[in-house]
Amino acid sequence: MDKPKRYHPLLVGLHWLSALLIIFMLLAGTFLLANQPNAPAKIPVLALHMITGLLILVMTIVRFIVRLATPKPAPASIGSAFLDRVGVVTHWLLYLGALGMGISGLGIATQSNLFAITFGGAGELPRSFYLFPPRIGHEYLSIAMLALIGLHIGAALLHQFLRKDNLFARMSFGGKAAGN
Ligand code: HEM
Repeated sequence: MDKPKRYHPLLVGLHWLSALLIIFMLLAGTFLLANQPNAPAKIPVLALHMITGLLILVMTIVRFIVRLATPKPAPASIGSAFLDRVGVVTHWLLYLGALGMGISGLGIATQSNLFAITFGGAGELPRSFYLFPPRIGHEYLSIAMLALIGLHIGAALLHQFLRKDNLFARMSFGGKAAGN
């Protein structure tokens, strides 16, 4: 059977929505949330972060299943076997990183009783979330994710504008796709 020219529309939608949400969460988490003192005013900000983070976690799992279950376009080449391999590994690491962020976030929230505090009005925020080990993983993973996303965007731009293979069309709902 011929390979499709673009990814499944559900995968395309999930890709762009999760990309926006993940970039927003990484920047807002690093520059706003992590620098805010653990006072009552932080509770609604944390609630928004947790809901968005859980949404990303669910979307990542659904996306992974859709990716396995639907036909994919033929592998794209940037003209170097090594860089093509780096591309494939980066894609898997992005999935793993998004899963890891959600799971370590859940770990912090469970250990610090954060669901009851943010959504049940139970008690005060802990002095610091670094009292809970998953907080350290959450931070290192966020740095790794920023680096991976930089690599991913760089490679996509290289394909699009240097190799001019119109790779973006594979991750779109219509138009002329790469290989057409
Ligand atoms: C893909 C999903 C997620 C992303 C991208 C994300 C991103 C971040 C980032 C960038 C930070 C700050 C890291 C730092 O610079 O130290 C952070 C902190 C935090 N996140 Fe997440 N997060 C996600 C999911 C979650 C989930 C699901 C929860 C809880 C249910 C959660 C709870 C927290 C908490 C409690 C902190 C600590 C805030 C502080 O130290 O003041 N996160 N997150």
